[in-house]
Amino acid sequence: MAIPQSFLDELKMSCDIGQIVSSYVQLRRSGRTSKGLCPFHSEKTPSFFVYHESQSFYCFGCGAGGDVISFIMRIENLGYIEALKFLAERVGIPFPEEEREDPALRIKPMIYEINRAAAHYFHNILKSPAGEPGRRYLMGERQLSSATVTKYGLGFAPQGWDNLRSYLRGKGYTDEQMLLASVVTRGRDGKSCYDTFRNRVIFPIIDLRKNVIGFGGRVMDDSKPKYLNSPDTPVFKKSRNLFSLNFAKNKAEGTLILAEGYMDVIAMNQAGFENAVATLGTALTPEQARLMSTYCKEVVIAYDSDGPGRTATNRAVGLLDEAGVKTRVLDMKGAKDPDEFIKKYGRERFKLLIDGARGATEYGLKTIREKYDLGDAAGKAAYLQEAAGYLAGVPSAIEREIYAGRLASETGVLPEVIRESIGRAARRAARRQERKTSADLEAGRLGAMQGNMRPGESAGDGILGCLYHHPDWRGQIAAEVDPALFPSPDQQAIYAALLEKQKTGECTLTELAGTLSSEQLGRLSGILARVSEGYFSISPEALPDYIRKMKTEAQKKEIASAQNLDADQYKALAEKIKRDKQAKTPPKR
Ligand code: CTP
Ligand code: MN
Repeated sequence: MAIPQSFLDELKMSCDIGQIVSSYVQLRRSGRTSKGLCPFHSEKTPSFFVYHESQSFYCFGCGAGGDVISFIMRIENLGYIEALKFLAERVGIPFPEEEREDPALRIKPMIYEINRAAAHYFHNILKSPAGEPGRRYLMGERQLSSATVTKYGLGFAPQGWDNLRSYLRGKGYTDEQMLLASVVTRGRDGKSCYDTFRNRVIFPIIDLRKNVIGFGGRVMDDSKPKYLNSPDTPVFKKSRNLFSLNFAKNKAEGTLILAEGYMDVIAMNQAGFENAVATLGTALTPEQARLMSTYCKEVVIAYDSDGPGRTATNRAVGLLDEAGVKTRVLDMKGAKDPDEFIKKYGRERFKLLIDGARGATEYGLKTIREKYDLGDAAGKAAYLQEAAGYLAGVPSAIEREIYAGRLASETGVLPEVIRESIGRAARRAARRQERKTSADLEAGRLGAMQGNMRPGESAGDGILGCLYHHPDWRGQIAAEVDPALFPSPDQQAIYAALLEKQKTGECTLTELAGTLSSEQLGRLSGILARVSEGYFSISPEALPDYIRKMKTEAQKKEIASAQNLDADQYKALAEKIKRDKQAKTPPKR
C-alpha cells in the first residue's frame, strides 16, 4: 500500500531520532551528534552515532545505519509497515486505514500456517509406519520418551524429494508460498522445487507466541551436514530466537541454562530441567543475550567441555555480562555434553553439577590452574602471573579481593604480593586498552570515513551524498551519470531510489526506508555520516570531480576487460576515452 505522505511527514515530525534511540541506547550528546554503544553489535567503546540534523544514525563499527524507522525495524525486528505502526502508536498518531490491503502483511501469517502444516505433517509421519527410522533414532538411540517427542512436536521427514511439497500442494499452497517459508528449495534449473528436509528427524522451532518459525533437521547416521536448519525467513531470525525459550521462560525462576544444541535441551527437559535453551546453530548473539536477560538474572552455561566449547563459553560470559546477566559455568567431567552426562550419570548428579556450577571467575582460574604444575616453583610463578593477569580483568573489586586471598593460601605467597601483581597487570591492561582504543578509532573510524574502498566506489558515494543533499541537482546529475557507472550494486540501487523519490521534491531516509534494503540504508547513512563529519565535500565544485573520477575508474575497468576486443573495437574504445577526457577536463585556472 502507498503510505500517505502526510502521515509520513507527521510521523517524522513527532519522532525525534535522539529521543527514540535513547530508550534503547544510552547516548552522550556533543553538539550536533550523540554517541553510544551500538545495540546491533557487541562493543566496549562507542562507535554508534546519532546525527540530529539529518535525523539519522550510523555505526562505524558494524555499518548499521538509517533513520528512526529503520532503527525500529532493526531493533524491534519489525517490517517497514509494522515499524510505522509501532512508532505511530508510540507518539499517538492514528495509522491510515487501508493498511489491511498490503500483501506484505499477509505473508507472515501465511508462512506461520505453512510451517504449522509442515510440523503436523512431519510429526504425523513420525508416528506412522513410514516414521519407523525416525522413531528408531529418537526413541531408540537417543532414548526420548513418547511424552518428550510429543512435547517438542518432533517429526520425521521421509526420504524423497516431493513428500511435504505434494502434501502442502494438496492443501492449496503454491511453490512460491512454500519457498517463502523455505520448506522447499529451488532447484538449480531455477524452476523446479524440492523438499528442503529429507530423511532427517525434525526439531520444530517455536517462538514465544507458539508460532512454528522454522525447523532443524538431523541426519540419523554420520553423514553431513549433521544438522540442517531453516534459513532466515520473514518469520525466522536465528540471531533473535532461542530454542525452547517458549517452555523455559515459565520455568526460569531467575535462572536459565544455556546449552549448545537441540538434543541437549531436550534431554535436559526430559530429566526435569525445563529452564534450558539453546542457540539455533550459531554462536550466541548480543540480541540473544539481551533476550535472556529479560527472563532471568543468571545463566548457567552448559556448553560442550571441549576446546571450542570453552572458547564459546568465554564469549558467552562476555555477552551475558554486557547484558547484565550473572553467569555460572558447568564444569562437566566424563561427558562431552549435558545429553551424554545425563545418560551416563543420571539426573541427580546433573542436578549436583548445576547447583555446584561456579562463577565465571572461578571457572576461568581453574582453567588456568590446570595448565601448570604447582609442585614446581617455576610452574607456580607462571600460574600466579597468568592468574593475576586474569583477575586484573575481573570487573568486581570484591571478587578480585576474594580470589587474591584464595590464590595466596593456595600458593603460600603473601596476599599483598598478589594484590600488587594484580594491580600491575591492571595498569598494564589499561595502558594497552587506551592505545588500542585510539588505534581502533584511527584505523576503524577513519578507515570507515575515508572508505577502505576502491576509488570509483568512494567517488560514487560522493555523488550520492551530493544528490541526497541537493535534490535540485537531480536533473543535472541524472543527465550526466549513467547508473551503470556505479561500481557497487548497492550504490546503483540507492541512486535509482533517490532519482525516483526526488521526482516529487525532497526526500529523506524515511521515504527510502521502505524501498532500500537494510544494507543499502546502512551504506547511505554512512555516506551522510561522513558528510556530517566533514570527510567529504558536497559542494558544487566537488561534484564534477566525483563524476570524472567515477568515469575514469569505470573506463579503467572497461580497458581491463578489453582483452577480448578485436583491434577495431579496441581502437574505438581508446578514441572514446580520449574524447571523454577532453570534454570533461576543466580549463586550468
Ligand atoms: N549444529 C548445526 N549444524 C551442524 C552441527 C551442529 O547447526 N552441522 C548446531 C545444532 O543446533 C546442534 C548444535 O549445533 O544442536 C550442537 O551441535 P553438536 O555439538 O555437533 O551436536 P549435539 O548437540 O551434540 O548433537 P547430537 O547430540 O545430536 O550429535
Ligand atoms: Mn550431543
